[in-house]
Amino acid sequence: MCGIIGYIGGNVESNLYLGLERLEYRGYDSSGMVIKRGSNFTTYKATGVVEKLKPTIKEVATFGIGLAHTRWATHGGISIENCHPHFSSCGDTALVHNGIIENYEELKGDLIKKGKYFYGQTDSEVIAKLFDCKLNINNLRRVREKLIGSYALAIISKNSDYIYFAKNKSPLYIGLGNDCALIASDPSCFVGFADSYITLEDGDYGKFSKKEVIIYDKNNKIIKKQPEKLDFSFINEELSGYSHFMLKEIYQSRIALEKIIEVYQSYAMKEKLEILKNKEFDRIYLIGCGTAYHAGLIGESYMRDAFNIDVFCEIASEIIYKNLNIDEKSLCIFISQSGETADTLSALEYCKNRGGIVVSITNTEYSSIAHKAILNFPILAGQEKAVASTKAYFAQCIVLYIITNYLKGIDYIFPLQNFKRQIDFGDDNILKSLASKLANFEKVFFIGRKRDYITAKEASLKLKEITYIFSSAEPSGELKHGVIALIDKTVPVIVIATDEKVFNKTLNNACEIKARGGKLILFTTLNIDNEIEKAFDFVVKVNKVSQAFMPLQIILSLQKLAYFTAVAKGLDPDKPRNLAKSVTVE
Ligand code: AGP
Ligand code: GLU
Repeated sequence: MCGIIGYIGGNVESNLYLGLERLEYRGYDSSGMVIKRGSNFTTYKATGVVEKLKPTIKEVATFGIGLAHTRWATHGGISIENCHPHFSSCGDTALVHNGIIENYEELKGDLIKKGKYFYGQTDSEVIAKLFDCKLNINNLRRVREKLIGSYALAIISKNSDYIYFAKNKSPLYIGLGNDCALIASDPSCFVGFADSYITLEDGDYGKFSKKEVIIYDKNNKIIKKQPEKLDFSFINEELSGYSHFMLKEIYQSRIALEKIIEVYQSYAMKEKLEILKNKEFDRIYLIGCGTAYHAGLIGESYMRDAFNIDVFCEIASEIIYKNLNIDEKSLCIFISQSGETADTLSALEYCKNRGGIVVSITNTEYSSIAHKAILNFPILAGQEKAVASTKAYFAQCIVLYIITNYLKGIDYIFPLQNFKRQIDFGDDNILKSLASKLANFEKVFFIGRKRDYITAKEASLKLKEITYIFSSAEPSGELKHGVIALIDKTVPVIVIATDEKVFNKTLNNACEIKARGGKLILFTTLNIDNEIEKAFDFVVKVNKVSQAFMPLQIILSLQKLAYFTAVAKGLDPDKPRNLAKSVTVE
């Protein structure tokens, strides 16, 4: 999940710093930078968010070669010693790493026996210490042959004007500009610097300067790669008047919907959907992690209602341990905002190896998951910067709705246009007032039935990840089977009710909570009478929409509730502790 960037060109400090800001979504435990001018290195390191690095940097504003890193610690604490870049023993070679070296303990033991000294505990330092003082392709090849695990590496040496690189399982791209050349974990870093980029594959390694790029593949053969054009109209760098990206992105759900309606009417997109329709399959698996998994659950509910075949939604990190029947007749749909989630990527390889028809739904068409799938369905939400996924969830569910309807042969444009007119983001004053109360509690439960239970899971994830309040989602009917033992006056329960057919049952479950002193909060799209409303301590109402879109309508207010609660607690909703936006380690 760390972000790495390497840059050869002018204004190296400020351009690397801008790259770090763009990569910060990948982790913000610490950051660091090394600049080579002539044959000298200047190094900067700081723990905490990228902003902490800025005051340490001495801007020279001339040509240079440099590397920078923003860390999400996997091995070794958050300290200056573990901050990247790491250096070879002689200090002549510097590297930044994203990934995990699985055999680092063994390698470290051997190096210690050879008299090498380690400053920190991270696996990445072991790679640096494997380099002798001379950085060249042979040395790089020799070092990477020793590594087991995942890595995106950018390496520089005092004696070379190239940036060396190697990739296995972690994303890595080379950016080509008129005045500079770059390497980074995410090509969105290249905006403003490069007009084209090269996607590196697992096993690729090599070196580049401003003049040339030399790439070897996993068989040690020199290969040529056609650069692709950079199109980053989706970049999202300005707060545009919002106090945080999370709030801006919740509101961008509407723009995502508009874009989806436009693009999914196009001939090109219909052609893609048609290819999918013509595939023969008798089972569907929907696979993702976290919020993307929850979108999969919504998709599962659409597909189960529409088709007469088995549909399963699975957590990516678990599917590989299940002895599931995945073969040529299985349609496997991978859902991932970033398209880089390591667990989802591994699950994709697993299903591919069993012959599954592997397609993806991502927000990043250049990502590893989109590349490895036979068809990628974009969610067109634009870059999502806040760690908590909001507009991507909304857009993933919409794309799943479209796929379901297309396969079934039903129109999706008219219902989506209708929904667009009825979108309701909830009343800010009501949500803020509820958030200020919720901020004082230590635990919260969310309950619901059918799709409302899926919404409960997603709302609970949102709340816990940005407010650190313990929260759990339960199917309403399950309360009495155990969880109700935890209910007393210190525990608010948020009841989600958007389905008329099961409202009475959910209401009964709510009454059971009330009888035990629990605080009851209702989020609903239904018209309920005053007597029922009185049973609740707080009621949030949003406009009714057609049943398929109820989960999307109600989640907008629940996302905002989590946001306002984080703000009420004085937390930064965009950068919750311990998390990173792109989770590229398993
Ligand atoms: C969402 O709020 C979370 N931060 C997280 O669960 C996320 O959805 C998950 O890590 C999957 O990411 P992806 O969609 O990029 O694969
Ligand atoms: N394993 C390295 C570290 O802990 C890199 C972490 C990552 O890429 O997430 O510093």
